[in-house]
Amino acid sequence: MKIETLRWFNNRLEMIDQRILPASFEYLSYDSAASVAGGIRSMVVRGAPAIGVAAAYGVALEALRLSSLRQAQGERFEFDQGMEAGFTVLAQSRPTAVNLFWALQRMRKAWESVVEQTPPQIAQRLLAEAHEILAEDIRINKAMGAHGAALLQDGARVLTHCNAGALATAGWGTALGVFRSAVEAGKKISVIADETRPFLQGARLTAWEMVQESIPVTLITDNMAGYMMAQGEVDAVVVGTDRVAANGDVANKIGTYMVAVLARRHNIPFYVACPLSTIDMSIVSGKDIPIEERSVDEVKGFRDYHWAAEGVKIRNPAFDVTPAELVTGLITERGVVMQPDAEKLRRLFA
Ligand code: MRU
Repeated sequence: MKIETLRWFNNRLEMIDQRILPASFEYLSYDSAASVAGGIRSMVVRGAPAIGVAAAYGVALEALRLSSLRQAQGERFEFDQGMEAGFTVLAQSRPTAVNLFWALQRMRKAWESVVEQTPPQIAQRLLAEAHEILAEDIRINKAMGAHGAALLQDGARVLTHCNAGALATAGWGTALGVFRSAVEAGKKISVIADETRPFLQGARLTAWEMVQESIPVTLITDNMAGYMMAQGEVDAVVVGTDRVAANGDVANKIGTYMVAVLARRHNIPFYVACPLSTIDMSIVSGKDIPIEERSVDEVKGFRDYHWAAEGVKIRNPAFDVTPAELVTGLITERGVVMQPDAEKLRRLFA
């Protein structure tokens, strides 16, 4: 089954509403930068590359919206000012995944390259760029998939955390793309999906994707990972990432650090599937990566049901940082960077 996380339909962006998966499968429709930013903030769309693609379409939609408004009103200045407001609202939607800022920067460059043209022409150029970012994301995931699949033995039992699948990208996925590519290459792998408290991306999304693909998957709660490793039931870990610092430190869904420490303890390779757009060379180490704190309601309970004691103080950091020294390899579209460090990442971009 081909999962189209984001699609262009009737001059609108449509995104699968990931908040209600797997119970319901529904697309929601977006027509402006502000509405797309709302979709990112509220987790209709999530996962670093998918957020970047959504933001790119948010910019294109804003240009289309403003150029039709301008036809009625006639002011060039309002178009530029409106575009700046669109960039700002999108940049404020979520802080950790660098793909969001990467995509906005790329869209700004595309805008600058045609800034002298009319707003409708600018809008068409920006829409073409958004389509290209989406198509490119799938190509990159497949390239990463091929490099990553080569690391997995036939019969490997691979643990993953959160959802780094088709739902977290424009399609195929980063970590789950590695699993898809391994299966396509004829390897019989099986997946262990961490539930991923508190938003349950593993239980709801990764498990759903793997079931759709008929890739054998076993769901565990996050606190079972150590037991599974100690029992010898995990051969490798592959996760995605939201931002990698210039020294190779990896920010990913909260709980990833715990898995990496356990993997090292049990001599299990810990791989991170990471498109180059997720590497932030402007950030020296993981200490400088902004970590999103989300609503305490996500920890308190689920939807309207609260199991936590009333009045208790709650924290909800949504990501953590795994130091580069715990990373066996970064799987990129240009190949695998084993034991990543500042020098190797510099060379990757050279
Ligand atoms: O809060 P989320 O669901 O957006 O977090 C997603 C993750 O942490 C993923 O592992 C990461 O974005 C990589 S997705 C290819």
